[in-house]
Amino acid sequence: MKHYPRPEPCEQPPLFHPPYCASLRRAPRKPLIRLPHTLSELTGPLYGHNPIGETDNDLTRQHPGEPLGERIIVAGRVVDEDGRAIPNTLVELWQSNAAGRYRHHADDHRAPLDPNFTGAGRTITDDNGNYRFLTIKPGPYPWRNHSNAWRPAHIHFSLFGPCFITRLITQMYFPDDPLMPFDPISQSIPDEGARRRLVSRLDLNLTEPEWAIGYRFDLVLRGRDATPFEGQS
Ligand SMILES: [Fe+2]
Repeated sequence: MKHYPRPEPCEQPPLFHPPYCASLRRAPRKPLIRLPHTLSELTGPLYGHNPIGETDNDLTRQHPGEPLGERIIVAGRVVDEDGRAIPNTLVELWQSNAAGRYRHHADDHRAPLDPNFTGAGRTITDDNGNYRFLTIKPGPYPWRNHSNAWRPAHIHFSLFGPCFITRLITQMYFPDDPLMPFDPISQSIPDEGARRRLVSRLDLNLTEPEWAIGYRFDLVLRGRDATPFEGQS
């Protein structure tokens, strides 16, 4: 039976990180018991009950009007540790709007919702592992983790491979965000180089003139250059 390698904890965020207050409640206090993967985990459930829609990767065209804010292109490749493309992977993202507000019942930040922006998208990587989204640059938002706590602008990412246990979740940040050093979530990753791999880079080749700035964000599933993912340590 095939299996999926477990990640090494060295460059992954720890489950227990006291400055990130939610981890005090969520993190297990005892060592995890590793169970063998069974047939059900290795074979299902598969994603794909609903086909990808035409505007699923264009968050600016999901409503009758255009959303407010800075239009951006976010694109990159999903690759393995040797840089080989991972095709046919479901890439999902979710994010706040330009004012830093999520369209979610639990978000009570006093910032306006945008009637033309949901903040969720998905796409499938092509044969070369490429994905691409058109969206609005998210705003920073307060989150009450500590006094005067603000999350740097970020986009949540989920990757789905061929079965349920291959789901990976992470967050993408923007270059030179002054809030990053004060963010307990991104700073929970011990290795500075690994933290940098969560920061997208401005890419003028991706940027479309008179239209939208492009940010490149590649996702490396494992190995020395692996992207830090949540809940992997
Ligand atoms: Fe968020």
